[in-house]
Amino acid sequence: MTDSAVEQSVQDDLHDDVAAPAERMRPRVVLGVSGGIAAYKSCELLRRFTESGHDVTVVPTAAALEFVGAPTWAALSGKPVATDVWTGVEQVPHVRIGQSADLVVVAPATADLIAKAAHGLADDLLTNTLLTARCPIVFAPAMHTEMWEHPATVTNVATLRERGVLVIEPAEGRLTGKDTGKGRLPEPAEIFDVCLDVLSRGATGPDLAGRQVVVSAGGTREYLDPVRFLGNRSSGLQGYALARTAAARGAEVTLVAANVTLPDPAGVKVVSVSTTAELRDAVVSAAASADAVVMAAAPADFRPTAVSGDKIKKAADGSAPAIELVQNPDILKEISHTRAHPGQVIVGFAAETGDDTGSVLELARAKLARKGCDVLVVNDVSGGAVFGSPENEAVILATDGSATQVARGTKASLAHAIWDQVARRLT
Ligand code: CTP
Repeated sequence: MTDSAVEQSVQDDLHDDVAAPAERMRPRVVLGVSGGIAAYKSCELLRRFTESGHDVTVVPTAAALEFVGAPTWAALSGKPVATDVWTGVEQVPHVRIGQSADLVVVAPATADLIAKAAHGLADDLLTNTLLTARCPIVFAPAMHTEMWEHPATVTNVATLRERGVLVIEPAEGRLTGKDTGKGRLPEPAEIFDVCLDVLSRGATGPDLAGRQVVVSAGGTREYLDPVRFLGNRSSGLQGYALARTAAARGAEVTLVAANVTLPDPAGVKVVSVSTTAELRDAVVSAAASADAVVMAAAPADFRPTAVSGDKIKKAADGSAPAIELVQNPDILKEISHTRAHPGQVIVGFAAETGDDTGSVLELARAKLARKGCDVLVVNDVSGGAVFGSPENEAVILATDGSATQVARGTKASLAHAIWDQVARRLT
């Protein structure tokens, strides 16, 4: 594209405010790309935004264009790209792009870009955009572990977070070259999910910033022998939605996952466990410093008294082995009754079916009292509708006597309703 064509297109873009109403309804996302090798992964992030109907303006830095060229960004976004503030200058792009955005996401965010943003420098279009944006801002850092852990970067990230910028923790794993460690750009699908959560909440901001939360997810397995176990139908979807949404609201999240096959949510510390005993140890340890704990996991209530070291064989006489069970610890009850510190908020789940002793809500109220937690999220599981489904509905009971009905919707929307309750109690 020639300079004049770029200029014309940038001007067209800047005139979008008078575009057709349907066009203006599309959420406006600015995708900032700074100069790191992970810039290629942002092409996938861009595709996800455009294919889901977002209006994306890509603002790469000059260094980013060393890794992925302007034609790629222009072709994928359907718009021209500019790195400097001198293109279409009469339309004041360095102000307008940021002002009209509903979300700015910078992926990858290099140590250099983070430092510039923390200090308010504005020497190119992206840094100008960051200074003029009044919408939520998400940074997905990617750099070598040494750079991420350097005191300068640590201070800069803390500064941005204090200002309400959501800085996603980088993932651990293979970095450029042969080294591994913390600093990888989280998977584009994960960054995208965080952005959707932030967009859906508008400018509310990261109200869980500075908070540590623990979420348990999945279903535990209690082994009979090396190949067989007693388990349950929990998929982990609701717990993962809780972890992802808490991270999107700025919390430092530890996700204790029991036998879940879903990808790790971006910026979340995942601790994998299998049995209820392992889940208990991991939750109790993480809860020691947590502001809130949400027990979305389905721990097995019983385990075999003994685990056979060998695969249990069929008996020649056709008889079935008797399985003797012992009760597992009740983790929710334990952490609720031995609070790690006053003010800690503890949330339990209750998968209930009514019976002749009471309705779903009556049984749930009794469970809230028995468990000793602050909030109980009640699912009516008559018919098994919740397991593995992307949707959920619930009533959120609390010790103040409130009962909040959450209409059927995504597990992320229920997760946000739960964090709303937690956030209210933490303040
Ligand atoms: N839970 C737990 N430890 C267990 C079993 C359950 O922490 N050993 C937690 C679950 O994570 C959930 C809540 O307790 O948050 C309720 O789980 P549910 O299976 O509905 O309750 P039960 O503990 O089985 O209830 P009851 O006391 O009626 O047996």
